[in-house]
Amino acid sequence: MNQFKINPMEVPMIKTSAELRQAFLDFFATKQHQIVPSSSLVPGNDATLLFTNAGMVQFKDVFLGAEKRSYTRATSSQRCVRAGGKHNDLENVGYTARHHTFFEMLGNFSFGDYFKEEAISYAWEFLTQVLGLPKEKLLVTVYETDDEAYALWADKIGVPADKIIRIGDSSPDKKYESDNFWSMGDTGPCGPCSEIFYDHGDDIFGGPPGSPDEDGDRFIEIWNIVFMQFNRQADGEMKPLPKPSVDTGMGLERISAILQGVHSNYEIDIFQGLIQDTATLLNCDDLEHKSLRVIADHIRSCSFLVVDGVMPSNEGRGYVLRRIIRRAVRHGHKLEAQSHFFHQLVASLVKQMGDAYPELVSQQAVIEKILRIEEEQFSRTLDRGMALLEDMLTQLTGDTISGEDVFKLYDTYGFPADLTADIARERQLKIDHDGFDVAMKKQRQRAQQASQFATDYNEQLKTDKYTSFKGYTNDQFSATVIELFNSEGNVSQLSDGEQGVVILDNTPFYAESGGQVGDSGYIETSQGVFEVLDTVKVGNAFAHKGIARTTIQLNARVNAHINVERRQAIVKNHTATHILHAALRTVLGVHVTQKGSLVDNEKLRFDFSHFEGVTAKELKVIERLVNSEIRKNHQRDTELMPIEAAKAKGAMALFGEKYDDEVRVVTLGGFSTELCGGVHVNSTGEIGLFKITSESGIAAGVRRIEAVTAEAALEYIDNQEGVLTSIAHAVKSDVGNVTEKVDQLITRSKTLERELTKLKQQLAAQAGTDLLSEAITINGITCLIAELKDVPSKDLRGMVDELKVKMNSGIIMLATANEGKVGLIAGVTKDLIGKVKSGDLVNLVAQQVGGKGGGRPDMAQAGGSQPENIASALESVTPWLTERLN
Ligand code: ALA
Repeated sequence: MNQFKINPMEVPMIKTSAELRQAFLDFFATKQHQIVPSSSLVPGNDATLLFTNAGMVQFKDVFLGAEKRSYTRATSSQRCVRAGGKHNDLENVGYTARHHTFFEMLGNFSFGDYFKEEAISYAWEFLTQVLGLPKEKLLVTVYETDDEAYALWADKIGVPADKIIRIGDSSPDKKYESDNFWSMGDTGPCGPCSEIFYDHGDDIFGGPPGSPDEDGDRFIEIWNIVFMQFNRQADGEMKPLPKPSVDTGMGLERISAILQGVHSNYEIDIFQGLIQDTATLLNCDDLEHKSLRVIADHIRSCSFLVVDGVMPSNEGRGYVLRRIIRRAVRHGHKLEAQSHFFHQLVASLVKQMGDAYPELVSQQAVIEKILRIEEEQFSRTLDRGMALLEDMLTQLTGDTISGEDVFKLYDTYGFPADLTADIARERQLKIDHDGFDVAMKKQRQRAQQASQFATDYNEQLKTDKYTSFKGYTNDQFSATVIELFNSEGNVSQLSDGEQGVVILDNTPFYAESGGQVGDSGYIETSQGVFEVLDTVKVGNAFAHKGIARTTIQLNARVNAHINVERRQAIVKNHTATHILHAALRTVLGVHVTQKGSLVDNEKLRFDFSHFEGVTAKELKVIERLVNSEIRKNHQRDTELMPIEAAKAKGAMALFGEKYDDEVRVVTLGGFSTELCGGVHVNSTGEIGLFKITSESGIAAGVRRIEAVTAEAALEYIDNQEGVLTSIAHAVKSDVGNVTEKVDQLITRSKTLERELTKLKQQLAAQAGTDLLSEAITINGITCLIAELKDVPSKDLRGMVDELKVKMNSGIIMLATANEGKVGLIAGVTKDLIGKVKSGDLVNLVAQQVGGKGGGRPDMAQAGGSQPENIASALESVTPWLTERLN
């Protein structure tokens, strides 16, 4: 029961997190707000932000006036991740009541529509009337100088003065650094805010906001209402926004905790479900165990990060994901998880949150797979790293693990620093964060120094000239030489035979970029040519690198010709790359994103994110799809448009790539739409044929496909056919029957090998029988002591068996040497094992040839490493036996 209901008859009961989420959105919908779905955790319009960390992130440009929407009021339940980045408190997660890596933020937004008055009234109405929270439990804060907000709370809402607290800047010289001044980051939208707090009661320690005990758990902030007014500039200037706006954020988990009458977020329904399922999976009876909380928190962030296309990796977002997975896995191991468990919890999360986030349901299998692979990889290193850490801990004096040690664990064993911190914390130890940062910095410097010697001719090239590119439509173009360089720098002419760089005002030559290599060709002057070997961009100019075959002068009028054949091969590969990209996303899933590409006249190479090797079957499907799109002969369209329009069109863009406001969009029928400045075929049929030549992994989570098209594809197939034909010739078959023929040959060769072995054994046995003639008699007992030539050690056993049968009663000691290794065997017939044991006999010899052995009393084998000592060792056998056979 909701214990705070004022009148259950009038107020619909809202208790579960799902009901709360819905009630919030519904409430604001009745106030004319557009319900907007949660955006991705990977911010689409802000490369500076690691993860979406508030509801307003997807509306940033709307606040700034740079983007227009069809509505001026919006509401959302936004998935957020706060982990990594500057203030990473991952190590607290699970140990406190309210730290999470993942949470949901309920928010309402006004884009230049309503302002303070409505924002405050809506919040109060929702909390007190819809949720039925008692007014006396609520406190509010306002920014110190915000008299308007103060008056609204006091006069309009009627909050008593002792429950409205003004919060100022943290110090007089730090303007706007206040808990009640909210900024998205160092730059961007910001403004004063007003926060609503809930009093969890005097049985919990803590003071009201602004008091010395404010960090206690009694007064908890539940809703932040930001009055967005400024766009903070990098130099600190506060530019007013086009229109005052509102951005609010309420943590779903916190408010759920209040509605469900619990204090810790981990006690709410969503978490209890996850914790219960984790406990069942791991056979853990203690539902209060902190590790269960850690895991329950982490499965949420990890699953949603994967949903939003983040892959575990060693940098950026992927690295944060990797750290969170690893922390979860370690806590599983602490609970003695017997097998890989983490990915199995995705099902539980789907149960808890799948209704609100359908993308979780549709991608369940992918999430499970990615988490499982990472978990398997990490489990292997965990044990090793843990052992090393334990070692470090036994040698530790004091209570702090040194930064060097933390770094070593991180760098060598893949132990993130916060994992070490986590373990340290359990043992009441600290880690030296600063020392770690220093060690990290040092390593970075080393890496930089290592790569710095790669300076190049390009470094000499500096120009502020501009070249206009004519090569989308022209293979040749007349132009003027506007700058010349040789290896020393800027010159007014290049002489015959000299290497250098020509810069033209106009050019049909494509300069290397976006994975497409630069064009080659020649620049024709009135006297001769400059041979162009490659073209690169230098600022806004195109640099034609090559060799002068005549004197070429500044300001000369020239005719520039690209190597048309080479260019045609390049563009076929380039367009095929776009088709391949789209095909990969169709066949493998939309998590596939481009990680790199190289397109030249011989082949195309495409690197992309994918969590495991692409199977042969998948490759076939991909190849077929690409070829079928080629055959559809899609017309290639290119269009210049604003970046937003391109995104709205669904154009694939590279994350983190800086695009101009106006971008070039290349479309191939309905199959592929990409932002691209490269050159392409006119219609896909020109590509003719596409053939994948290899698929491989180049880094964790990154695969590479290499392929060829057109002539090169035919050539590739010709080569393969050539190989096949020569195999057919060699095995005296035709190509059609070659598999069968090769199979037959393999079977036959196996049979022959078996027969050969058998024959060899027979021969050896025969040799053994012949050996018998060498036997001596010691005290009436037949003893055979012999060194054998060219008998493999593995055949010794069979020989001894035969010899024993033939001797009926006797003792055998045989030695053989093969490739520097000694093989020894001793055999004693059953009737004599009371006198001599094979093990003792073989060891007598083994010790003298650098070996050791053992076995049964009637048969024992040994090896050795000193064949040169065999003869002398065998000599010691007769006296030894004589002593024992007395
Ligand atoms: N954007 C505000 C916050 O994150 C509401 O607190």
